[in-house]
Amino acid sequence: MKLWVAVLVATCVAGAFAQSCTCPTMKWATCDGNPCTCTVPIVDGQPPLTLNCSALIPKCYLMKAEMYRARHGLNTRTIGGKPVETAFLDNDGIYDPECENDGTFRAKQCNNTQECWCVNSAGVRRTDKGDTNLKCDKLVETYWVRLQLKHKEVQNQLNAADLKAAIAKAINSRYNNFNPNLVKDIQYDPDASLIVVDVQKPKGERKTDLAQMAYYMEKDVKASPLFQSQDRFSPMVGSQKVEMETILVYYVDEEPPTFTMKNLSGGIIAVIVVVVLAVVAGLLVLFFARKKMSKKYNKAQQREMEPM
Ligand SMILES: *[C@@H]1O[C@H](CO)[C@@H](O)[C@H](O)[C@H]1NC(C)=O
Ligand SMILES: *[C@@H]1O[C@H](CO)[C@@H](O)[C@H](O)[C@H]1NC(C)=O
Repeated sequence: MKLWVAVLVATCVAGAFAQSCTCPTMKWATCDGNPCTCTVPIVDGQPPLTLNCSALIPKCYLMKAEMYRARHGLNTRTIGGKPVETAFLDNDGIYDPECENDGTFRAKQCNNTQECWCVNSAGVRRTDKGDTNLKCDKLVETYWVRLQLKHKEVQNQLNAADLKAAIAKAINSRYNNFNPNLVKDIQYDPDASLIVVDVQKPKGERKTDLAQMAYYMEKDVKASPLFQSQDRFSPMVGSQKVEMETILVYYVDEEPPTFTMKNLSGGIIAVIVVVVLAVVAGLLVLFFARKKMSKKYNKAQQREMEPM
């Protein structure tokens, strides 16, 4: 009996020790030593980056780590409506970014090429591409992200209020105590299985990094979680686990992006064409309606004149 207890205690201690030296917020990290230190390689031929595993890892470092893994043939697996008119999607995808010492993105990015562009605090391109002389005055902050989620099929219809509460709670607990007050609005369209989450901070606030949380969530849904624990992002609504199928992230910056018209994608052009057609149709209807009305008016006038 004593031996059994001793073995049990020893197992627990060993387990606790092994458990303590891991990086909960970065599955690719290597952890070692006492005190436990975790690192991840991001630049070839340079010592790996030391991580603070009590926090989410800055997106700029995450992207570098992912590019490093891609270069070295390590598994990464990435598969791949606007809240306001100035919101935009990350159409470029991943590149090997330049990071500042605090893990924020350098405003100007060139992806080791002669082609450069300016990014926002989420590392997403917000200008046209230019040459290496391109000027980016400052890093423009993303203060609003819209997470457009589509959930997988569920057995029973979800109660909208419960779903919203579950999503808000999951965001708070999963992403390192993410400030729940910044989850401003959650809309739900059951027919489309669509959940739209607006996360917004006051302009000028620099404490919260919305991009970081959004990136962890993007990975949670699109690929596999960046967390050590590979639990999925699946909020519980009543007794049902709700799994997510797709995610789209819209970025709204403190200043609108400066893309030019020549970069309009087919989709936007199609929308413009539809709007123009609708306007023309509207004008035609108006024109004929007025013509008809003036005819009637003329007739009425004639009739009134008859008795006289
Ligand atoms: C690591 O992150 C935690 C949580 O954000 C923070 O309180 C702590 O000061 C950070 N530690 C270091 C060494 O930066
Ligand atoms: C960055 O460079 C890599 C490798 O050269 C390339 O695969 C990737 O498409 C580039 N990304 C962007 C956004 O230009």
